[in-house]
Amino acid sequence: MARFVLKDTFYNKAKQEGFRARSAYKLQEIQNRFHSVRKGDRVLDLGCAPGSWLQLLSGMVGGEGTVAGIDILPTPPLPAKNITTIVADIRKTDNRDVLPGQAIDGFDVVTCDIAPNLSGIREVDDARIEELFGAVLQTVEAALKPGGHFIIKSFFTGVQKGISEKLRKGFAKVSAYKPAASRSVSSEVYYICQGKR
Ligand SMILES: C[S@@+](CC[C@H](N)C(=O)[O-])C[C@H]1O[C@@H](n2cnc3c(N)ncnc32)[C@H](O)[C@@H]1O
Repeated sequence: MARFVLKDTFYNKAKQEGFRARSAYKLQEIQNRFHSVRKGDRVLDLGCAPGSWLQLLSGMVGGEGTVAGIDILPTPPLPAKNITTIVADIRKTDNRDVLPGQAIDGFDVVTCDIAPNLSGIREVDDARIEELFGAVLQTVEAALKPGGHFIIKSFFTGVQKGISEKLRKGFAKVSAYKPAASRSVSSEVYYICQGKR
């Protein structure tokens, strides 16, 4: 019962407040706690559709900042002038050529809310998560400034330990965080990685 109340609360709140997905509240909680995004920042959002993180990020960076989004699916246009989106598969794209008119390097923050298609078969899903994580990490290596922050959704799986070890090698501080807006039945967890080495 409590699960339905939670789902309805965030779903209805998103509808009322004009956010495209309830995921917006997960990023808001992360920001309230870790303060990763600042006014004037340049942010790259991986797995951005339908666009609720873009909506929030656009306001967080303000008119002096910019937000670029990448998703395998098209993101319906958003009115804010500081948002650019492109359609691309993060596993296949040559990361240096994906953003027309923008260099792929020099981002202050990279966020990633990508969810792979999970089959329920452990070995298959672990392989999918690892492949995706490898591609995302490659993008982060190219895109994020030294000292920059990286926020990534991950899942409690067999490959979890390897993922967190790689993140800890690449960043000065890594915190695992489960926002209240994340369903308790979901195996997702967010890593907030501060200070790219
Ligand atoms: C949970 S949704 C993101 C929601 C988004 N943060 C928001 O607030 O609107 C996950 C997204 O990851 C995208 N995705 C999955 N695999 C991808 C890939 N290989 N490359 C790019 N995007 C991918 C999906 O198309 C989906 O839109």
